[in-house]
Amino acid sequence: MTVRFDPIQEAKQKAALEAVKHVKDGFIVGLGSGSTAAFAIVALGERVKTEKLHVMGIPTSYQAFLLAVNCGIPITTLDEHPEIDVTIDGADQITPELNLIKGMGAAMAREKIVAAASKLNVIIGDEKKKVRLLGENNQVVPIEVLPFAISLTRKKIVAVGGKPILREGKGKLGPVITDNGNAILDSYFGEIANPAQLAIEVKMIPGVVETGFFIGLTDIAYIATVNAINKIEKVSLSRL
Ligand code: A5P
Repeated sequence: MTVRFDPIQEAKQKAALEAVKHVKDGFIVGLGSGSTAAFAIVALGERVKTEKLHVMGIPTSYQAFLLAVNCGIPITTLDEHPEIDVTIDGADQITPELNLIKGMGAAMAREKIVAAASKLNVIIGDEKKKVRLLGENNQVVPIEVLPFAISLTRKKIVAVGGKPILREGKGKLGPVITDNGNAILDSYFGEIANPAQLAIEVKMIPGVVETGFFIGLTDIAYIATVNAINKIEKVSLSRL
């Protein structure tokens, strides 16, 4: 059943319903974080109930964990299942080459670990997530840093061309603390011509735990409007 929301919510749900079709009986499923991935978790929970599907989920955040439990999806860990069949996640920006910025929900460290462990990575989003170049529309790149190293990493991010701002919490005074106990430096780089290179430079900074750059990790993206779903697939070397 499709619930009617505002057009953006409806598009997110459409993309999520399409992505969940990749899940088969017996699968280990990586559960992404954020408002779009939440639609996928709900849709997967529906399939578990109605089709008696046997799957186990690996949540990428406390948000995803709580929602999955509420939706009746059995939970497992990466230690028990280091190979994941499919992961479904959202993104903040998606390029035609399927490079992403993620982390506006501060969950990108676990999201990237789960993505790296997955045989198939499916990204879902509404049209607003589509960009030509990462960093368009004043989008920042979230960078997770050890609290011990905030001042140093801030200086080093400036040295590679970024403008970092410490992310503040909502509903609590002080900085956001991630599920891993770290801080987030939202860093503005402008439009990023070579994200693969910048991703390496930032990751090399001591104190950086993870960046919101997801380069070459995505296999399929479903980008939806209320009326249509656009499927983008990774161009594999065999097709070049
Ligand atoms: C969580 O840290 C993020 O990577 C999310 O996947 C991303 O911010 C997309 O979130 P929404 O689906 O809420 O836009």
